[in-house]
Amino acid sequence: MAIAMTTGYSSQTEGALLCIEAATDWALSCVDSLAGDRHYILIDYGAADGGTAVGLWQKVLDRLHANHPNAHLTLIGNDLPSNDNQALADNLALQIPRPPKPTVLVSARSFYEPSVAPETVSFGFSATAMHWLSASPGPLNTHTHVLASGDDEALQRFKAQAMKDWNHILELRSRELKVGGRLLTVNLSRDEQGLYLGENGGETRNVHDQLHEIWRGMADEKLISEEQYRSGTVNNFYKSPEEFMAPLKDPNSPAHRNGLRLVDQRTVYVKCPYRRRWKENGDTAAFAAGLMATIRSWSRHSFANAAGTQAADMVYQRLEKRIAEAPDEWSLDYVEHHQMMERVG
Ligand SMILES: C[S@@+](CC[C@H](N)C(=O)[O-])C[C@H]1O[C@@H](n2cnc3c(N)ncnc32)[C@H](O)[C@@H]1O
Repeated sequence: MAIAMTTGYSSQTEGALLCIEAATDWALSCVDSLAGDRHYILIDYGAADGGTAVGLWQKVLDRLHANHPNAHLTLIGNDLPSNDNQALADNLALQIPRPPKPTVLVSARSFYEPSVAPETVSFGFSATAMHWLSASPGPLNTHTHVLASGDDEALQRFKAQAMKDWNHILELRSRELKVGGRLLTVNLSRDEQGLYLGENGGETRNVHDQLHEIWRGMADEKLISEEQYRSGTVNNFYKSPEEFMAPLKDPNSPAHRNGLRLVDQRTVYVKCPYRRRWKENGDTAAFAAGLMATIRSWSRHSFANAAGTQAADMVYQRLEKRIAEAPDEWSLDYVEHHQMMERVG
């Protein structure tokens, strides 16, 4: 199953940019903790086109250079081979002119594989990417997103796959980190109140329910088959803080055995920037188009893989119309879990 953000990712995802900005303080604290060295490798896992993280990496590179003026710095942007890796290379290259002229590289591989040699990474970072599962946990028969489905059996299946994947990701990263190196993950999550991306406790409509209603409606109108309807699953999972921390609290997990330890964690809420702007300017057409595009950026491949590009396009035409008809009932609020980790041995 191919995962791909729509092209022009960073221009369509103002929320993801705000989520990265909200993690800047911890990114800088990670690099401040690094011991003196002659060179540092920094890596951004699941960077998409890299546009949302340009400001973060400017600050991180400048801080590291100020702390260690004689050290060479290498920044690697990672994403899948199906990503727009030319755009990623271009955005990484924006860092080259700043002292000390860092080396920038693209790693076009899955973060479910090793990315670099063992014990080479000083600072690993990932934002809003590691919720995508490595394999399908099987069908969802009555919804397009497991967390909105109310299906306990499916929830257990998705959670089991998510925990297997998270353990695997942390095991790989713990091997790549140097001793004393830090990993900061900024991930879509669900909090103790059950809030997650698109579910804000009833303030506005659940975005995943809305996508599902549109998809179900297309099946009822026979625009897609029942089989295509069941295949239209967003194959991701928003973990709880306890689930994120579990491999670090278990002395028998592979990551823990490799020396990866929890330094700190927090949940951060980012309100929908499209809604905020609409409240200011009342431009409903721009709000509907912008919010639709940001939802489409991460969900389109799920519908296109199931029923083709025409069916997927219809989902977003209908979505934009729904937003325009009742703008006050729409928002895409982020619930992000920040987890700071260090390899101690
Ligand atoms: C929502 S974007 C986030 C991009 C950027 N980090 C940000 O916060 O704006 C998620 C990215 O994760 C990437 N991704 C998903 N699964 C991946 C995997 N297994 N390996 C590498 N990247 C992956 C997607 O291709 C996509 O570009």
